Amino acid sequence: MGWWLFMILVILQWNARSLIANGQEFKKFVTDLLDKPQVICVQETWLKPQLDFVIYGYTTIRNDRETGKGGGVATFVRNDVKYNLVNKGKEHESVVVRIQTGKDSIMIVNFYNPCNRLSTDTLNAVCGVTQGKTVWCGDFNAHSTIWRSKNTDINGSVIEEFIDDKNLVCVNDGKGTQYSSSHNTESAIDLTIMSTEMAGISLWEVLDQSTVGSDHYPIITRIEVEIHQDSELKTPRWRLDKADWQMFQMLSEIKCVELVNKDIRDVEEMNRKVTRAIIQTAEETIPKKTRIEQRKSVPWWNESCTIVIKKRNKALRQLKAHHTLVTLINYKRAQAVVRRTIRSAKRGYLRQFCNKNLK
Ligand SMILES: *[C@@H]1O[C@H](CO)[C@@H](O)[C@H](O)[C@H]1NC(C)=O
Ligand SMILES: *[C@@H]1O[C@H](CO)[C@@H](O)[C@H](O)[C@H]1NC(C)=O
Repeated sequence: MGWWLFMILVILQWNARSLIANGQEFKKFVTDLLDKPQVICVQETWLKPQLDFVIYGYTTIRNDRETGKGGGVATFVRNDVKYNLVNKGKEHESVVVRIQTGKDSIMIVNFYNPCNRLSTDTLNAVCGVTQGKTVWCGDFNAHSTIWRSKNTDINGSVIEEFIDDKNLVCVNDGKGTQYSSSHNTESAIDLTIMSTEMAGISLWEVLDQSTVGSDHYPIITRIEVEIHQDSELKTPRWRLDKADWQMFQMLSEIKCVELVNKDIRDVEEMNRKVTRAIIQTAEETIPKKTRIEQRKSVPWWNESCTIVIKKRNKALRQLKAHHTLVTLINYKRAQAVVRRTIRSAKRGYLRQFCNKNLK
């Protein structure tokens, strides 16, 4: 049992450059997002099997790098989303899941290319023979004028060919996804590639206010889909008391007038479109209560952590505006302070917690 709903599928992707170093800040970052992503694709987790990493409210599917340092990917699926694991790369750093949506399903490929020579065979091996709606989220370490790199390299042209072949579209808008603090340059190497039929109903956004401790920005992709949610527990609970009703009225009127002008004759279709317009408007104007308990995600978080992150993000803005040795050192220091502060807040909390429980 469950519900069929028009929803916005939210996918968050991010090259972490180590969840060991930046994972705690990332948990807080996810907790603070207004729209909880259904799926989170992280590259370069640097995790090893003996290290735990949990985001509260999500199931983790990891593919750690077995030998050598760095690398690794992890896909986190929100607990209320039905999914199955399709494939974990053995030779390649990838995790492929399929999430259930209304009439069909969407395959979400999380991929990290550690600066290797890409080939069509590699990409085919990662996604398998399966057809159907697909979204690739990953760090491809490849350049192409399609995503507005200055030039197209070999790896870029391999992806171009693959995209053509599989009827996919790269939805990147050309914005830089990775920031080099030492050169003050940005490059677009994190890509979101999806089936053509979904590209038109998707929104792609680089959240470039902060790198969350990494050198890559988080990227949010929103796709309008019909999605299956598990029964009562999962019905979105609108916070009607917090709604912007004026905006709701205005937007729904605009959308409905648009529909009337389209001269739709089929009642079923009209019904579908009106429902969708109203839900879409609600998504934009009414906040939702989420069942994912946010407190538990980072219970040890305190104001000190928030303050040092603000300082670090300010240092990043200053570095981008005036790239000098001083601003660079400032930024690096601020980054080190963030990690130290978070670590000590966590330790302090655990110590207190243990003391309380042992008495
Ligand atoms: C692309 O492939 C080449 C091998 O042809 C590799 O040496 C290079 O590192 C790759 N490019 C990037 C940006 O990783
Ligand atoms: C946050 O926690 C740390 C470690 O317990 C502590 O030293 C610091 O004073 C706390 N900050 C605030 C604002 O409570």
